Amino acid sequence: MKKIVAGNWKMNLNHKDAVQLVDQLLSGVGSVSGVELIIAPPALYLAEFSSRLNSNAGIKLAAQNVYHRESGAFTGEISAGMLASIGLEYCIIGHSERRQFFGETDESVALKVTALLSHGIKPIICVGEQLDERYASKHFEVVKTQVTAAIESLAPESSKQILIAYEPVWAIGTGQTATPEQAQEMHAYIRTLLTDKFGTAANEIPILYGGSCNAQNAKELFALADVNGGLVGGASLKSADFLTIANSF
Ligand code: PGA
Repeated sequence: MKKIVAGNWKMNLNHKDAVQLVDQLLSGVGSVSGVELIIAPPALYLAEFSSRLNSNAGIKLAAQNVYHRESGAFTGEISAGMLASIGLEYCIIGHSERRQFFGETDESVALKVTALLSHGIKPIICVGEQLDERYASKHFEVVKTQVTAAIESLAPESSKQILIAYEPVWAIGTGQTATPEQAQEMHAYIRTLLTDKFGTAANEIPILYGGSCNAQNAKELFALADVNGGLVGGASLKSADFLTIANSF
């Protein structure tokens, strides 16, 4: 199973600071081995960083979002074909912030998965319950709905191209990380959902944990049987922390 640590920069860092962070990561990435390191900077910087981070750089790039249509009159949007044209390998979709603030739905996530796969880009599909849903013991049901919607129309061979990120919304940016028990329990559950769809191939689909993953708790999280890496927000903005997380397997 591939181990993955992805940094979701969200809407942070002006150009100068973003370039500096890439420089710092490039000088430290030599210490990381056996882990696929991915960064998701703001879309504005992707083309430039893509030429800097050539295939030997040891750092892969992800977009934070995509629009599912091929091209046309969709002001402000970026297509999967455009991302592919600058050599992107990954794209985060369905992040809870996009669901909360930008009207992302299970339906739009499913369309984006299809669009990305048709251009050879691997979707990092984010799922996760809100705090009230967990209190109401609806977290499995919520995550099942999200995962199912994203994968149900996929062909069997797509299992090799997708990644899931379990990000309990109450853990994102709050410092309140899921406990190892909560994380493993949900990751194992997601694995059963993937197995129902893809059979044993599901064992090779990376399931990342996200939500206040940091340099202190990554080791414990990454030791869990069904946690195959992390999707890191705040802690990905500091190169030393991000590299420590990448070295936590
Ligand atoms: P966080 O964000 O690490 O800052 O909690 C994670 C994410 O939203 O991907």
